Order: sequence, then structure tokens, then C-alpha cells
Amino acid sequence: MNCVSQTMSVQKKLRRPKFSKRMEKFVELALPDVDFWDICCDHGYVGILGLRSEKFTKVYFVDSVPHIMNRLEQLFLESPNTPSPERFELMTVNGELITREIYGNLLVAGVSGTTVVKILSSLFHRQCLFAKRLILSPHSDLQWVKDLFQEGFGELASKYCFTQLIEVEEGGRMRPILICDRCE
Ligand SMILES: C[S@@+](CC[C@H](N)C(=O)[O-])C[C@H]1O[C@@H](n2cnc3c(N)ncnc32)[C@H](O)[C@@H]1O
Repeated sequence: MNCVSQTMSVQKKLRRPKFSKRMEKFVELALPDVDFWDICCDHGYVGILGLRSEKFTKVYFVDSVPHIMNRLEQLFLESPNTPSPERFELMTVNGELITREIYGNLLVAGVSGTTVVKILSSLFHRQCLFAKRLILSPHSDLQWVKDLFQEGFGELASKYCFTQLIEVEEGGRMRPILICDRCE
């Protein structure tokens, strides 16, 4: 694909992003008037929905793959409706290695349960995890994620209480969404 057609396809995607019910549910379930972190954001659609909702103080888009984040940056640069820079931030980093303190909502979705567990454990042990609400939607190994919040499984369970587990249909598959709230 040459540069012109690449730019056109990026612009097309921005005009018509594919928002699903699952993505809308993430925004609906998140707490208002605080930050929203989308770790493993990929296309950034959930964060874009979050920005459009004007529900959050700031939206953080995080993915470890540079070309994904470059594409997202390009989308924002070329959008006529790009929100003001203080309302969002793009970070190219492995979610396990974020060094900032995380407050508000933290979403990790569309990756394996093992990846969710690794990211949460690492953030917690490096004392970066202060989110009020965790919204977790692994595409596999749900039990691994649930186990994190079982009493006796470790320190994370003493800080976060399991609140609800729902299922949302997407592309013919049921996807779990686990909500855990900070309990102290
Ligand atoms: C299938 S997409 C999920 C997109 C979106 N979260 C969703 O649920 O629709 C998975 C994304 O996770 C990213 N990813 C995987 N492991 C990661 C990690 N440890 N830290 C940051 N990003 C990661 C990949 O680069 C990819 O863009």
C-alpha cells in the first residue's frame, strides 16, 4: 500500500470505527469523573468511545506495539474532532512495565487471562496500581483471573473485591467481563 492509500484507509477507519456492544459495555461499566486506562488498547476504539462519552477526566491508551500506537497517533492527528491534548495520552509500553500511578478505571481486554494476571501482578507489586475499578475481559483462562481475587491467593485479593461477572456477545462468542473494585 502506498502512502496516499494508507492515509486514506486510516481516515476511513476513523470515520467508521467498528464499535461493538462489548466495547460500549466497558465504557458503561466504568466509573465516571475519573481517569480511564485502556491497557492493550490496539485499535483504540474503547478509548475513543470513552473520549466521545465525555465521562472521564482523561483517557490513557496503552499498547506495547509501536506501529499500533503510531497508527493511533496518526488517527488523532488527522481527525477533525481530535480532543484537546490534556484529555488523552498515548503510551507505547508493555502494560507490565508502566511506571505511572494508575487511578480511576483500568481496563485490560482482548488478551489471555495469563497476560491480564501478569499485567495486574506487575503493576501491583511495583506499587502503581491504585485504580478504583478494574474491568477485565480475558479471551481465555478466565479462571486464572478469577483466582487472583480469591481470598488467600495473594495481596491483590486484600485490596480488590470481586463485584460482578457479566457476559456480552461479540461476533457470535460470549465474552466475560469481570469487575473488581478497590475495597480499602
Ligand atoms: C486483540 S487486541 C485487544 C484489543 C482491545 N483491548 C479489545 O479488547 O478489543 C490485543 C492487543 O494487546 C496488545 N498487548 C498484548 N500484550 C500486551 C502487553 N503486555 N502490554 C501492552 N499491550 C499488549 C497487543 O499488542 C494487541 O494490540
